[in-house]
Amino acid sequence: MNAQDLRIPGPTPVPPAVMQAMQQSMIPHRSDEFRSMHRELIARLQAILQTSHGVFALPGSGSIGWEAAIVNTLSPGDQVLSIVSGDFGVRFAAVAEQFGLDVRRVAVDSGQAATVDVVQAALAEHPNAKAVLYTHNETSTGVTNPLHEVGPMVRNHGALLLVDAVSSAGAVPIDTDGWSVDVLMTGSQKGWMCPPGLAIVAAGERAMAATARARFPRSFLDFRTWSDSIAKGDTPATAPLTLYYALHAACGMILDEGMNARATRHVEAARKTREVFASAGMELFADPEYASSTVTAVRSPGGGGAKELVKNVRERYDIDVAAGQADLSDEIIRIGHMGWFEQEDIARAATAVVACATVLAE
Ligand SMILES: Cc1ncc(COP(=O)(O)O)c(C=O)c1O
Repeated sequence: MNAQDLRIPGPTPVPPAVMQAMQQSMIPHRSDEFRSMHRELIARLQAILQTSHGVFALPGSGSIGWEAAIVNTLSPGDQVLSIVSGDFGVRFAAVAEQFGLDVRRVAVDSGQAATVDVVQAALAEHPNAKAVLYTHNETSTGVTNPLHEVGPMVRNHGALLLVDAVSSAGAVPIDTDGWSVDVLMTGSQKGWMCPPGLAIVAAGERAMAATARARFPRSFLDFRTWSDSIAKGDTPATAPLTLYYALHAACGMILDEGMNARATRHVEAARKTREVFASAGMELFADPEYASSTVTAVRSPGGGGAKELVKNVRERYDIDVAAGQADLSDEIIRIGHMGWFEQEDIARAATAVVACATVLAE
């Protein structure tokens, strides 16, 4: 077992029980044994994501979720509203553009949230938008956008809501059906405590209805095929068994912990991390009202040198934290507190960042 002190916002540490689950032998994927595990896996995912509709565990990294959501619900030339609050919003919009959608971007300042007012104003300006592309937890800035308010408002407007919840789902409660989310996507290597390799996608009733109208070509990612297979306990192609074993075990752990207790643990880790930074005089990056409970971003003292600081933390403390992304790559440091951790793991990482920042400033 490696004892990597991994405090980046994904991939995240994998607990021993999940590592052990991956040791299981291969079984025929067209067998009752598989179907029974698979049915239980889907039921667990539905319980965690609070949806009674289809959930598909697609082989691929989180990014495939963007593509799956687009090709299944939209058609070339459709207008979509891309709400951008950081680098992952930029990437989601770029995928939409690569597919030939008419992308209208609405960006908020980095570190700020895409509030319901922002989205409402954007929809008023672009009333013909067929879909809103929204990032729940912007991993690049440490902001959680208010999906619970945005979802019902978008539903009321009538546009589809396609949500990137890659770095929030599994760690914090998301009421997919109750918040009127049409497609919600996440990645196994984040709050789910699994290795990278699965994009978990929930598709609601309106999304499934849209699959019949959508004119993008699609094959492997076709929600209809996945839905038909899952109804029989199957997957359309050979299931990535080892990752399914992992996710099945991890979901069991998540449900045993309980989503409320899990949320409290994450909120507490985030609060303590912010406290360590604030008491050292370091400037937190996210609007405090919307600070994420799965990732905290702090400005590198002096406004630069984040990469050097991250390297220092690695060399002196053997802890991996992350620098920023895109234009923030050297300006901020990010700590992931997502999935499987104890409070002291996170406090140790935050304290190490502060210690290295102090040494570098001398
Ligand atoms: C919010 C968000 N969206 C999408 C992705 C892309 O996921 P992946 O790298 O697994 O393709 C990430 C990865 O960090 C993410 O944090």
